[in-house]
Amino acid sequence: MNKITTTEEFEKYSQSCCACLEDKLQGKDDKRHIVLCGGTGCLSSDSKAIMERFKQVLEEKGLSDKATVNQVGCFGFCSQGPFVKIYPEDTLYRMVHMEDVEEIVESDIANGTVVERLLYVEPGKGEKVVKQDEINFYKKQRRVALHGCGTIDPENIDEAMGVGAFKGLKRALSMSPKEVVDEVLESGLRGRGGGGFPAGRKWMFAQGSAGDEKYVVCNGDEGDPGAFMDRSILEGNPLAVIEGMMIAGYAIGASNGYFYVRAEYPIAVNRLKIAIAQAREAGLLGENILGSGFNFDCHIRLGAGAFVCGEETALLNSIEGKRGMPRPRPPFPAVKGLWDKPTIVNNVETLACVPYILREGAAKFAEVGTEKSKGTKVFALGGKVNNVGLVEIPMGTTLRDLIYDIGGGIPNGKKFKAIQTGGPSGGCLPTEYLDEPIDFDNLVQKGSMMGSGGAIVMDEDNCMVDVAKFYMEFICDESCGKCSPCRIGTKRILEILNRITDGQGTMEDLDTLEELSATIKTNSLCALGQTAANPVNSTLKHFRDEYIAHIVDKKCPAHVCKNLMQYKIDKDKCIGCGMCAKNCPAGCISRTDYTPEGHKLASFEIDSTKCVKCGLCMSNCKFSAISKE
Ligand SMILES: Cc1cc2nc3c(=O)[nH]c(=O)nc-3n(C[C@H](O)[C@H](O)[C@H](O)COP(=O)(O)O)c2cc1C
Ligand code: SF4
Ligand code: SF4
Ligand code: SF4
Ligand code: FES
Repeated sequence: MNKITTTEEFEKYSQSCCACLEDKLQGKDDKRHIVLCGGTGCLSSDSKAIMERFKQVLEEKGLSDKATVNQVGCFGFCSQGPFVKIYPEDTLYRMVHMEDVEEIVESDIANGTVVERLLYVEPGKGEKVVKQDEINFYKKQRRVALHGCGTIDPENIDEAMGVGAFKGLKRALSMSPKEVVDEVLESGLRGRGGGGFPAGRKWMFAQGSAGDEKYVVCNGDEGDPGAFMDRSILEGNPLAVIEGMMIAGYAIGASNGYFYVRAEYPIAVNRLKIAIAQAREAGLLGENILGSGFNFDCHIRLGAGAFVCGEETALLNSIEGKRGMPRPRPPFPAVKGLWDKPTIVNNVETLACVPYILREGAAKFAEVGTEKSKGTKVFALGGKVNNVGLVEIPMGTTLRDLIYDIGGGIPNGKKFKAIQTGGPSGGCLPTEYLDEPIDFDNLVQKGSMMGSGGAIVMDEDNCMVDVAKFYMEFICDESCGKCSPCRIGTKRILEILNRITDGQGTMEDLDTLEELSATIKTNSLCALGQTAANPVNSTLKHFRDEYIAHIVDKKCPAHVCKNLMQYKIDKDKCIGCGMCAKNCPAGCISRTDYTPEGHKLASFEIDSTKCVKCGLCMSNCKFSAISKE
């Protein structure tokens, strides 16, 4: 590839890439184009081998000149992968396996007949859906941060330029740094990494800080359990994040940017490396970019998996080679950050929105959303919901739309109990809040928070005390130990929660929980400690009756807490097959009597004093004769 050194060369090259991609997507080149999801989820279900098989079968059938085969980033609907999409018809096949390749090629590629059995079926409706955009999961989504993900080959800069890569940068370079900051301020973009701080204001502080050297840092640590938004963006369109970082660099006067990405994301890291190398080769990273005099280069640092290293000052310590512990703020990184130089730290998704803002204009970005939360937000939707995956929704979408329209509702006819947003710093919202719009301030007001985008749906089988305990265990493990309110306080909270779930809790424990939560919140050094008690507070507020049932009745209403429940055999339903006894690892199920005929086993019984509550008996009983009490 020749270096692109001027805006005219850029314009010409960018236009040819756009035309080429459009020809491909709209079939103007008289070819079919097969794309396979190359996100971590689908790759772990063999999508790479399936892609090779497509190439092989096309070759065997003499169809290689009729169709191309490529990988793209995550489609978002990871629970239905591996995905195969065929352009220009936009046919989407899901859960494709090696054995299906030949049929797709023979039926669809050779004869134009859709393979019906591989189409997505709407839950509860039984309708088969051919095109991606017609699936309910996608209908209410809008791709801004995920722009290009699932459409382009993330390892091909030409495809990224086909969806507009570097156009935002080109426009930014034609403006003054102050105008760029003003544009970001006007867009209303708030940080997507958890805090929701206005990106433009952060940039303004860094712009105004004196320094011979400044830095932009992209936070790709993503330590929240269940979160994979940033990973998917980096895997699906790494150049968008690089471009966002460059625009930030131009705005504040930085010429170097650091990506801090967790080492457990090897595919994202590899694609980022490829994207940086390709951008350098194209002259879009390096010296005198597009003849503007602006110099910028990117570097990657790997995080070693500590949740606290996602906290911006701990992250800076980690990049500097120090132990990843938070620094007191102020001074804020915008004044004294990496190697004591003015630095902005922005989340992957925040930076991925920036090229859109500069390319399309602040007003277009701000068209979507609520008054104080503009744009879209990516969520990793998981838990007890039919459609599990990555979704990007306009701010202001209600929790009900997220769970029922996009998420397809709760599986197995179970009842919704709560949605947990914000990960370990967030909270659980019950049914009464289903019609609340999702935005930064509203979620905080209701006792949860947006966080970085984890959204876990819970049904009647979830115990809310157990949920609070799960997050507190995580926080205790991840507290860096620098300050005592967090180090000791979270441990004491966990001890109390353990007592309650073991049936040893007292009503006074609830007061102590509230007291400890308040102390940790106000006295901890960083937001890990300051928000650590949120899951406890929100469950105490909305599900206090469950805490009381554990303490007073010694019962876990959801039958989750092992020490408060028992497995029971219903004698009327038991046909005496003996499967439960055969599978019981504790040997605590025994035969009790015979039928009057004397040959058929009538019933079995569990000795609950020996039972280890493994649940194997229940899952092995084909007659639903075993239940939890
Ligand atoms: C314990 C802890 C972990 C965090 N982890 C992340 C993370 O993985 N990614 C992230 O972008 N922000 C994380 N944050 C928030 C960062 O400190 C910081 O606010 C953010 O990177 C700023 O970017 P933004 O303004 O674009 O959101 C974390 C904060 C805390 C307290
Ligand atoms: S609040 Fe917790 S994680 Fe943060 S500095 Fe203190 S001990 Fe470390
Ligand atoms: S598996 Fe079910 S039906 Fe069979 S003996 Fe056990 S409880 Fe009875
Ligand atoms: S729960 Fe496990 S240990 Fe208890 S009776 Fe059933 S199989 Fe045996
Ligand atoms: S990884 Fe394939 S759809 Fe997400």
